[in-house]
Amino acid sequence: MPLFRTKIGLIAATVGSAVGLGTVWRFPAEVQGNGGAAFLIVYIACVFLLGIPIMVSEFALGRGLRSDAVGVFRKQAPGTAWWTVGAGAVLASFLILCFYMVVGGWTLDYLMQSLDGSLFAGFRPEAGTTFADSYFTDVKDSIVCSDWEASLYTAVFVGLNIVVLLGGVQSGIERMSNIAMPLLFVILLLFCGISLALPGSLKGVEFFLTPDFSKITPTVCINALGQAMFSLSLAMGILITYASYYSNSTNLGQTAVIVSSLTLLVAIMMGLIIFPAVSAFGLEGHGVSGTTLVFVTLPEVFAALPFSSFWSALFFLLLMVAALTSTVSIAEVVICFLQERMGCSRRRAVLAVLLPLMVLASICALSFGPLKDFKIAGLIMFDALDQFTNNIMLPLVALGTSLYVGWVAPRGFLRDQVTNEGQYKPGFAKACQLILRWVAPVAIITIFLSNIL
Ligand code: PHE
Repeated sequence: MPLFRTKIGLIAATVGSAVGLGTVWRFPAEVQGNGGAAFLIVYIACVFLLGIPIMVSEFALGRGLRSDAVGVFRKQAPGTAWWTVGAGAVLASFLILCFYMVVGGWTLDYLMQSLDGSLFAGFRPEAGTTFADSYFTDVKDSIVCSDWEASLYTAVFVGLNIVVLLGGVQSGIERMSNIAMPLLFVILLLFCGISLALPGSLKGVEFFLTPDFSKITPTVCINALGQAMFSLSLAMGILITYASYYSNSTNLGQTAVIVSSLTLLVAIMMGLIIFPAVSAFGLEGHGVSGTTLVFVTLPEVFAALPFSSFWSALFFLLLMVAALTSTVSIAEVVICFLQERMGCSRRRAVLAVLLPLMVLASICALSFGPLKDFKIAGLIMFDALDQFTNNIMLPLVALGTSLYVGWVAPRGFLRDQVTNEGQYKPGFAKACQLILRWVAPVAIITIFLSNIL
């Protein structure tokens, strides 16, 4: 097994995986749809109370058994069916990649159109906000629903992944993360500063940070837990795979706390960018959900600023970097699986995963364009993949992992991993074990049932 070269590199790569479209794009939309600051509070509680222990359990499996997501279960519980938990994670990873790459492709297209100025070329600032709304909705449709453009950019985005992944763990993933993550934080800070300095921004900050406790409902809790799991990259096999590249001296508890806190910080920064900007420009009604927020409302904000193309290019660069550091991590799950299980070389494994994916994701990119009338194709390819993985596969894998590490793994396994064989105090490991046994299964079963009922 290759190892990450440095501690900073290991953290950059793991945070890079966690901070993806789920954190920078899905999080603000979820806050908006679930009562603002009330959601934020429950999300923070979910990250610390459930997210960290589940993350620690995945780290322990990966580092302790040094194998891929299926291999860890096969090694520790041979002859049982626990390996299906890992297999579920590998399958979920491949399915998630099919639609995530498409969103990466859209981001790349927006980046290119910002760089060559075409994004704002037909925009007339004097025509008012209704015009802006429909102008950028048309732009979005021309990309998302295009005949071939979305496919082409999706294929290019998959190509970027191939380049990074062929470089391997140290020279590919770690090196890219060491550059990408500091860049991401600098861009985020810059945007926070700009957004908070806009006149009228305070209303947005208030919405985001002043909680109305009466808005905490069971649905809000369930959505917050789902968002916490997705944004921390839990149950996708990513953390097991990355932890198999951690050294024996890595402090797993500390790493989980740092990675989760940094992911939370990015989510909060995104909130401090988006809500103040939206309220400063009075765009509250202009769609803050899903694709609309990032691909319509934010371009409206940029259009109202001087140097629109520059800000927009910087923002879509941020989004693309966030997406890329996540897609490489999830592709690595399947690549590591092929290398370990089938004995493939790195090069073969990378190409065997990403070339078919390039074709599948490019077809998936047509879901909103030429394929949209083929209801079944459009549905299966984008929305259904998203729903099926998020609502069914991820909760089941998370449940399996918690039950396995909490109840089935050999006595003392989690403690030995978390304390590095007694080097640290066992209190944290004990708390994690307790949560994995009782709290996480109950919480996950609740989300799961509420999602499918
Ligand atoms: N935490 C990641 C995100 O927020 C989850 C993810 C990783 C999803 C990789 C897809 C691919 O985007």
